[in-house]
Amino acid sequence: MLQNQSIGVFDSGVGGTTILKEILKLLPNENILYYGDSGNAPYGQKTTEEIQKLCCKILDFFTANNCKAVVIACNTATAAALDRLTNLYSVPIIGVIAAGAKGAIKVTKNNKINILATPFTVSSMAYIKELEKLSKKLSITQEGCPEFCPMIESGWESHPEREKIIANHVAKLSPEADTLILGCTHYPIIKEDIQKFFSGTIVDPAKETALQLYSLLKLNDGFNSENKKGKVDFFVSGDKEIFKNVAEKFLGFKINNIYSVDK
Ligand code: DGL
Repeated sequence: MLQNQSIGVFDSGVGGTTILKEILKLLPNENILYYGDSGNAPYGQKTTEEIQKLCCKILDFFTANNCKAVVIACNTATAAALDRLTNLYSVPIIGVIAAGAKGAIKVTKNNKINILATPFTVSSMAYIKELEKLSKKLSITQEGCPEFCPMIESGWESHPEREKIIANHVAKLSPEADTLILGCTHYPIIKEDIQKFFSGTIVDPAKETALQLYSLLKLNDGFNSENKKGKVDFFVSGDKEIFKNVAEKFLGFKINNIYSVDK
């Protein structure tokens, strides 16, 4: 692994910034290329083939830029393409679903777990498979939320129906579960709104994913050896200004290096 090369992080849009934020806390010296495919969002209502094709395009971009590791900061893309990408590309690739499942197992006390995710992630059963690798005594309820990603991409706060939409989806979950996995990386952006309707522990895969990346770099002696703060470059296939507004608000810093890429 080449220590001073960048790490590629991608999502269907702004959601992956929830993972990026934790990576920056844990690995501040790393240079990151963040790819937000907002021109093709939402991924959650596409087919496996469509998502895999989009992911390959992004992996081609990262490998052309010599990335030393890639984080799929998107549950839907992890469910649809992690295995395929791992077979096709030699760069080490990390997804978010194993991290989310691990995080939930750590906190649940009654083994009843709720999941909010995109319709694709829900029907892929990816979380259920991952959770069941870790424990056989779980009761799991999942709910697909097709409206969440498009609304978060376009500025959630201005949506008048947001609380009603969240309440309707949370009402379909198990009232007995003590743990809720945010199974889409966009959802931590609206965590405070979700928390109003769920009183248990909310699990966001971001911290666990950043830890997994840290371990990967450590194992491969891959930490950036330059003793200075790393840089993040953003590549966006949709509207740059809309991306910038939502991402800056969540990340808490100004984004200067932002470039357009083709859809
Ligand atoms: N942020 C994504 C996820 O974690 C995808 C949302 C979407 O594009 O539908 O699933």
